[in-house]
Amino acid sequence: MATGKTLIAYATKGGVTEDAASLIAEILSNKYNLEVDIVNLGKTARPDLEQYRNVIVGSGVRMQRVYRKALKFLGNNFENKKVAIFLSSAEAGDPKSHDQAILKYIMRNLAKLPNVRPVAAEAFGGRIRFFGKTIADTRNMEKVKALAEDLGKKLD
Ligand SMILES: Cc1cc2nc3c(=O)[nH]c(=O)nc-3n(C[C@H](O)[C@H](O)[C@H](O)COP(=O)(O)O)c2cc1C
Repeated sequence: MATGKTLIAYATKGGVTEDAASLIAEILSNKYNLEVDIVNLGKTARPDLEQYRNVIVGSGVRMQRVYRKALKFLGNNFENKKVAIFLSSAEAGDPKSHDQAILKYIMRNLAKLPNVRPVAAEAFGGRIRFFGKTIADTRNMEKVKALAEDLGKKLD
């Protein structure tokens, strides 16, 4: 039996998706009184989903691909749960390629997952570091907050 809990499960390589997951969790629990657990899919690949009514999945994108761990997790059975998806992607951080990034990295993957019908899906920018130096940074925490607010109204 699903309880009212919300799970945020994320896959990250550079930490940006993790920061977004933490901010979303903070807003959902502090402002919307949801009980939120956060799981790093790199450490816990198969969290027990039974206890959750809402599942939010986050991932980064590299080499034109959503991280494998997040895609694998999206193959779970989310029957009777509300699902939302967010991505950190350099392409999504550029207004010129944002919509194309949503299409490539979210819609095309969802087309292969007919049982996943998210209540919200968004892609934010990301950050690219090379030998410890940031060479591109299109992170947008305001957009992350906006998604959290949207989810706060849609999830219960
Ligand atoms: C080696 C490498 C390849 C990348 N390839 C892509 C890409 O194909 N498309 C894209 O939108 N962003 C790409 N990015 C940018 C990442 O999406 C960005 O670093 C994001 O913050 C990754 O999320 P994470 O920090 O949670 O791992 C790439 C970054 C790196 C370091």
